Amino acid sequence: PIVPVVLAGGSGTRLWPVSRDSLPKQFQVLTGSQTLYQQTLQRVSDRSLFAPPLVLTHEDFRFFARRQAAEIGMEVTVALEPVRRDSGPALIAAALIARKLHGEGCLVLALAADHVVRDAPLFLDACRAGAAAAAAGQIVTFGITPTEASTAYGYIRPGGEPGPGGARPVAAFVEKPDLATAARYLAEGYLWNSGNFCFPAGLLVEEAARFEPAMVEAVREAVETAFEDLGFIKLDPGAFAAAPAKSIDYAVMEHTRCAAVVEARFRWSDVGSWNALHELAEGDAAGNVAHGPVALLDSRNSYFHSDGPLVAGIGLDAVSVIATEDAVLVMPVDRAQDVKALVGKLKSER
Ligand code: GDD
Ligand code: MG
Repeated sequence: PIVPVVLAGGSGTRLWPVSRDSLPKQFQVLTGSQTLYQQTLQRVSDRSLFAPPLVLTHEDFRFFARRQAAEIGMEVTVALEPVRRDSGPALIAAALIARKLHGEGCLVLALAADHVVRDAPLFLDACRAGAAAAAAGQIVTFGITPTEASTAYGYIRPGGEPGPGGARPVAAFVEKPDLATAARYLAEGYLWNSGNFCFPAGLLVEEAARFEPAMVEAVREAVETAFEDLGFIKLDPGAFAAAPAKSIDYAVMEHTRCAAVVEARFRWSDVGSWNALHELAEGDAAGNVAHGPVALLDSRNSYFHSDGPLVAGIGLDAVSVIATEDAVLVMPVDRAQDVKALVGKLKSER
């Protein structure tokens, strides 16, 4: 079977005031009626294709991870990281645990818990293609056609002929290049890394051991001495803390020669800003998007999100209003990238 691994340990600040350190965006309802994490679990709910998911997250989020899965009737195994070490150690731990639970030869489908994916059938097609390429001994990334020279993504240069699953070998992988380099890559036909991967569990561990031996050593120890705690798999704190903090992109994807890319045909967003949510949603005839209780008069091209209070607007054009119980953010829609700076200011003033 394909073992879905859901990475749900990140913390997002660009969607403040909804996304907080204490409850990051993957566990929030941002589109539709389910959290991004629940939507991610739903995408891999076809048990003829996928095993029950394995969720990796930080200890602090353990009850969200379990309760939100139960709410949608999903059976999940949750493994807990005692300290934050980024996605590299988390994915290596996931691969080692998947092998224990599902056998040496199992394939892992690693999914970010905080992305929006539309077109479910196309997503499943990509998973099947990715699994075929992974079964042939490759670490598969799902590539997205870029729309701008963003510095927030990994860039992939496909090279060579398509192999199993239509996957093309990766000639180069560059994580988060600077703006000038990103612009050049855009012109040269690179793809964005979607941050979702498919690989044989053993191959990821082997490749990681080649480039990051200390990381694999620490994680192996943390998995071997893991213990059960309230039904969670808890990685050994001392051992896991010894793993260097590095994302899988820097630790493995930039170096491995076994990478291949399947081009994603589904619509995808990593929901990097309030604007991304505005653009993803079907607006009304005037281009407004409203999530939660909202009342508008004579307003256009605006975005409203409320987690409780009624938000009412008159005569607004291209304005975003995000309201939670204890904080309200108001900004022109084209300033969504500055939320991170605002959160930095708030933190420094506290
Ligand atoms: N369990 C766990 N533990 N998950 C983590 C951790 C951790 O310490 N750190 C991050 N994650 C999860 C996040 O919740 C998210 O689902 C995923 O791993 C990716 O982490 P991000 O921190 O969001 O990475 P990024 O967005 O900067 O970059 C990655 O995604 C881009 C696409 O959105 C990279 O893979 C880029 O190459 C890629 O383009
Ligand atoms: Mg991300």
